[in-house]
Amino acid sequence: MNIIGTGRAHPSLTVTNDMLSTFLDTSDEWITTRTGIKQRQLISHVKLEDLAAEACHNALKDAGISAEDLDFIICSNVVNEYITPSLSCIVQGMIGATCPCFDLNSACAGFIYALDIANSFFKSKSDINHILVVCAEEPTRMCDWQERSTCVLFGDGAGAAVLKRGDDFKSIALSSFSSIDPLYQIRQLEKTPFITKEEFGGPLVMKGQDVFKLAVNASLNDIRRVVEENGITYDDVDYYLLHQANIRIIETIRKSLDQDKVKFPHNIANYGNTSSASVPILLDELNRNQTLNRGDTIVLSAFGAGFTAGACLLKWSKN
Ligand code: UT7
Repeated sequence: MNIIGTGRAHPSLTVTNDMLSTFLDTSDEWITTRTGIKQRQLISHVKLEDLAAEACHNALKDAGISAEDLDFIICSNVVNEYITPSLSCIVQGMIGATCPCFDLNSACAGFIYALDIANSFFKSKSDINHILVVCAEEPTRMCDWQERSTCVLFGDGAGAAVLKRGDDFKSIALSSFSSIDPLYQIRQLEKTPFITKEEFGGPLVMKGQDVFKLAVNASLNDIRRVVEENGITYDDVDYYLLHQANIRIIETIRKSLDQDKVKFPHNIANYGNTSSASVPILLDELNRNQTLNRGDTIVLSAFGAGFTAGACLLKWSKN
């Protein structure tokens, strides 16, 4: 499997740390030093599907193919306004594709899970030539905006990648282990006359320090697996593109691997944590600003609620 096109879309509203401190007991200094975030793009008047479709259009254009050429669409999404139909079905119609599609929810690790499924499709279905993966997320709609320890972290956005048959992807490692307490959100379903259990819903709940440790451990483990599987060393990797959740998480992983800063490009300062969209958004930035060179060895790694995590190792063959 090869990546032949990337795309992204952001909402137009930029919210700076200073803007947050007008209604929250926080400061630019705290958010910057604890997270690396300076601003984030927030959904205001657009819908998530608009961003998803824009990211898909950009990725298709970059790949030089049209929506009719797609054989499958996989959409990674945690929440959007529709419970049903799936976001992938909505986006399929918006971009004019007719292929089968489905959503997956592996939280912030969704891009890596989608890549693994796409890779398996290429191996098992001979009639599949092009797959579109789109990660579209609005985590800012999950937060309590009076809760400074969560709402300052997130931003909304969409990232997409067009994949075709090939052998650029060398290894993908996924890991999941049930650990709900550190990061969850419960929603209340409609009542029926037969419900007797107590039910409630509420905003995202996070134990930040627990998630921090789980994230570092899971990422390091997944990265080690894909690097070892290829018989190479951490030094042989040109770029590590990590889930953009906290610059301190990225730095802790970088230092553990004893690698140069230049190998860990990041954009968290501009967008915050956009959940599963963060890795494809970063990939698209680096593709478009021509940071990535043909033949580069790249590791992608992400982690999120569940707890879910995954990493993959690929050769970049796109110009
Ligand atoms: O996609 C995965 C999603 N989540 C993550 O990856 C999150 C991983 N965790 C983290 O990034 C960090 O744990 C946080 C950024 C969430 C928090 O950083 P921390 O260094 O672990 O801070 P803390 O939770 O230990 O809080 C330190 C202090 C507390 O005050 P006290 O109890 O020491 O008086 C917090 O109430 O900072 C306070 N605090 C804030 N202060 C100003 C928490 N949020 C804020 C805030 N502004 N926004």
